Amino acid sequence: MNKHTNHFISNSRRIFLAGLGKLSLLTAGAWFTPQFAFAKKEDASDATQKITGNAPIKDGRVKLVIPPLVENGNLVVLKVSVDSPMTANDYVKAIHVIAEGNPLPNIFTAYLTPRSGTANITTRVRLADSQTVWAIAQMSDGSFWSGSAETLVTLSAEAQTKQKQSSYELMSSENKAMQDDASLNPAMFWVTDGQALWQEKLGPKNTACASCHGDVKQSMRGVAAQFPKMIKGKLQTLEGQINACRMNTQKAPQLAYESKELLLLTALIAMQSKGMQITVQKNTANAAQMNQGEQCGSIKEWGSSTLSCAQCHEDRAGLKLGGSVIPQGHPNAYPIYRLEWQTLGSVQRRLRNCMSGVRAQQFDYGSSEMAQLELFLMWRAKGLLMESPGVRP
Ligand code: HEC
Ligand code: HEC
Repeated sequence: MNKHTNHFISNSRRIFLAGLGKLSLLTAGAWFTPQFAFAKKEDASDATQKITGNAPIKDGRVKLVIPPLVENGNLVVLKVSVDSPMTANDYVKAIHVIAEGNPLPNIFTAYLTPRSGTANITTRVRLADSQTVWAIAQMSDGSFWSGSAETLVTLSAEAQTKQKQSSYELMSSENKAMQDDASLNPAMFWVTDGQALWQEKLGPKNTACASCHGDVKQSMRGVAAQFPKMIKGKLQTLEGQINACRMNTQKAPQLAYESKELLLLTALIAMQSKGMQITVQKNTANAAQMNQGEQCGSIKEWGSSTLSCAQCHEDRAGLKLGGSVIPQGHPNAYPIYRLEWQTLGSVQRRLRNCMSGVRAQQFDYGSSEMAQLELFLMWRAKGLLMESPGVRP
């Protein structure tokens, strides 16, 4: 098994229904639209109360399996198994399925007897939207147990395109204008401040980036379109190289990911490639790293299922997920000013968002896995034009 696989093992235990009101708002990924989730929750709690009276529900003994990603929510295969001996004095009396995102949340009930032999059911249900689904088992001793699973429902949207496409094409005309017009693009504040930092003399030798590299417009022209790249035998991201120069030549402390200073320099340098084609190539020096990057994006464990970047960004690009269209997932506009963040962010921040959106464990900032994934994504986006610093909703 690939060593990366275990990075994606889901680290979040499913939270139990009783705590649903408060908790699932906190655990909701970007793709589970929180406003609606809240409204739905009431109905789901009512439906649950009808089943249990006010009896407590314990977490465990019930395993619910649904596919992590489904199209249109029609006839989704749902499996429930309950850990029970199914003997005359210890058996499962009923299994109830609650879909918190459906208009009528109690979507299914099965009644069982000891003669059923095992407490396993398989059925097909309709799921209206991305949501958490709960199975509640009512035992012969009067106790209730539950298990849950989440699913993302994609809905058809605009025509899909097979051509390579930047998410720019999916944005509203206002957001496009914001990216295109330097006087409207909020990221330009970072670029301007980045100019000052480029000139700032630091360290024992009193050197600035400009001391060695001169005018950024000339020395850094087209540079970001080639990153990540192999430098002195090491795969470097743009941020990694900026830090390498700071530490090795200026003897200044390393800049943290998402710190203002690192974003300033990244935005300034990336800006010098705006409008140029991505030129990352696969070659003997980087092939192994690139293959690792592809693997990083191809297998993740999500709860009891596996989910890959490609399942969204290749197979379902152009479909709708929780109100937004799934883009092809290209890194050609980074760093971006994201309206949702209300600040500038790196491509690694965006990738971590996708990982947490599917409850996969997030790669660390600056890790070699991140660099490999970035490399693979840049190669996959080859030919697209750099938009940095971009704007995204
Ligand atoms: C003492 C000279 C020196 C200073 C100061 C310096 N660099 Fe560098 N930089 C280099 C050298 C030499 C390279 C070539 C790669 C290497 O040897 O690491 C380089 C490479 C780079 C590259 C990659 C260029 C490419 O074409 O691949 C970037 C980006 C970069 N530096 C950014 C910066 C930034 C930002 C600063 C200021 C924080 C800075 N450098 C400060 C010497 C310097
Ligand atoms: C469940 C579907 C899904 C999965 C799985 C997923 N993403 Fe995404 N991704 C999205 C959506 C939707 C967006 C658009 C932004 C948003 O609304 O969150 C996005 C945005 C992106 C973007 C930003 C594109 C841009 O132009 O700014 C990149 C890059 C990206 N994803 C890469 C990845 C990678 C790499 C993986 C695997 C580690 C991954 N995604 C897994 C759904 C997914």
